[in-house]
Amino acid sequence: MKGRVVVLTGASSGIGRAIAEEAAQAGARLVLVDVNGRELEGLAEAMARAGREVLAVPGDVTVGTDVERCMAQAVDRFGRLDALVCCAGVMYFGATETMAEADWDRVLSVNLKGTFLCNQAAIRHMLRQGGGVILNIASQFGLVGGPYLAAYCASKGGIVLLTRALALEYARRNIRINCLCPGPTSTPMLRDLVRSASGVLREAVVGLGTTPVGRVAMPTEVARAAVFLLSDAASYITGCALTVDGGWTAG
Ligand SMILES: NC(=O)c1ccc[n+]([C@@H]2O[C@H](COP(=O)([O-])OP(=O)(O)OC[C@H]3O[C@@H](n4cnc5c(N)ncnc54)[C@H](O)[C@@H]3O)[C@@H](O)[C@H]2O)c1
Repeated sequence: MKGRVVVLTGASSGIGRAIAEEAAQAGARLVLVDVNGRELEGLAEAMARAGREVLAVPGDVTVGTDVERCMAQAVDRFGRLDALVCCAGVMYFGATETMAEADWDRVLSVNLKGTFLCNQAAIRHMLRQGGGVILNIASQFGLVGGPYLAAYCASKGGIVLLTRALALEYARRNIRINCLCPGPTSTPMLRDLVRSASGVLREAVVGLGTTPVGRVAMPTEVARAAVFLLSDAASYITGCALTVDGGWTAG
């Protein structure tokens, strides 16, 4: 990873932030992207003070022109783009019969369309420079269903198959494309969910956090697997959906 230029979306918080720190420790140069510009600037400043090579680029992954601008700024600053991690994501947790169309659109737009736009834009640069690595953050709910998570499951299942389709399309052109399927992980997304759920939804949330290993993941445990898939140690791995879920999908 030493010197590799990694563009990372959803970098301001949770799993994305942990991947940024883990990749920086492995020597990567980072382009951090997030719609939450204030948190992003704070993170980038802290990392720069710690001696990391880092550029913060506020942007919305659902907007094609933003995505193009983020990739272009990465190449302008560092001269190349070796890796992309798509971690930006949102969740909607609630009964399907009362879900608003706008909530469906938001989840599919950020999670699935955003991942597609970022993959497409990065691939264009990677083809020009002769290769690269992409890692999409899906979820255990890209592999199995979950109650009250229709849009989220649809979006994450979409990421798993988007990843596999692109991996096959670009395998001969030296671009490896994988996804990671984390289980419940201690981040603001999970904490907000636990805080906001009541009644029958509360019971369902407790079920989501119940794993065979008896605890939720720490973001660094997911980040270590992410850095492995980005690194040359994973040179023969493409098109995979790696679970980091404490056994959640094993049963
Ligand atoms: N926490 C979990 O239990 C868990 C489990 C499996 C998968 N995941 C996935 O991991 C990823 C990170 O989740 P997290 O738990 O760290 O969540 P989080 O809410 O802590 O972080 C998500 C980040 O994405 C950013 N974001 C949202 N919409 C964006 C947009 N349109 N453009 C750019 N950035 C945007 C947010 O600002 C935030 O910084 C998500 O894709 C999530 O679905 C999380």
